[in-house]
Amino acid sequence: MTNPCKFLTCLALSFFAPWLLLVVRPALQSQKLAPQAYVKDRDGLEGVYPGKGIYRQGQLVYAREGCTQCHTQMIRPSFAGVNDGWKKGWGSDQSAIPRDVVRASTPFDYIGEPVAPLGIQRNGPDLANVGYRFTDPDGKADRNGLHVQLYAPRAGKKWSIMPAYRNLYTVRKIEGHGSPGALKFPKGFSPGKGREVVPTPEANELVSYLLSLKKDAPVPGQVVAEAAKK
Ligand code: HEC
Repeated sequence: MTNPCKFLTCLALSFFAPWLLLVVRPALQSQKLAPQAYVKDRDGLEGVYPGKGIYRQGQLVYAREGCTQCHTQMIRPSFAGVNDGWKKGWGSDQSAIPRDVVRASTPFDYIGEPVAPLGIQRNGPDLANVGYRFTDPDGKADRNGLHVQLYAPRAGKKWSIMPAYRNLYTVRKIEGHGSPGALKFPKGFSPGKGREVVPTPEANELVSYLLSLKKDAPVPGQVVAEAAKK
């Protein structure tokens, strides 16, 4: 190409066109998404999808602490080359609801979230449905379990490479009977005799956010993916 003007125009276009198609257009499309209503006869459910939102205050702590460096919140569709991209156990126990709903993430799952924390790398488990994993079958949330995971990740799994978020906790001398909110540790991880670990308000917000992560509501009108039935 000998004409510099033509060359520069082609060069500009070759960056501009993909940016328009791959960034601007999808962004505009996803901003237009609105919650969808269930149709009782078809879906066997009432209300809208997605139902409950996430706990936003805690999401800000999640973003600030950089949890997205290691954790995704995006369950890949099984056609993305990974047969085992998502599993039944990754969502709720679906025995009581009409449709088998463990599924890949959809853009609707992030409605109402100013920024969708999709994540950068998957060094740790996907957290899209982590709320279920820290809630027992009676619906009781295991807040202590999540706090221990954040304060001392190796208390649960010896090999964990997750950093300890001690900045979100206060270690102090036990006064009287101790604080009601103090963490209960497995043997060998307590902060020392006569001392206790108390979550800061931010740690509590982060834990409430993690417990609110249950992004597997059935998608209105969608035929359940084959893999979910296995
Ligand atoms: C350097 C990578 C790394 C960072 C950063 C990180 N994690 Fe983790 N996380 C892991 C790994 C690896 C595991 C799996 C081992 C374990 O359970 O400790 C894990 C496990 C977890 C679990 C248990 C998940 C389950 O399903 O049992 C939770 C909850 C969690 N991380 C939350 C967080 C939060 C919240 C942050 C930010 C404050 C964070 N992690 C930052 C690597 C990381």
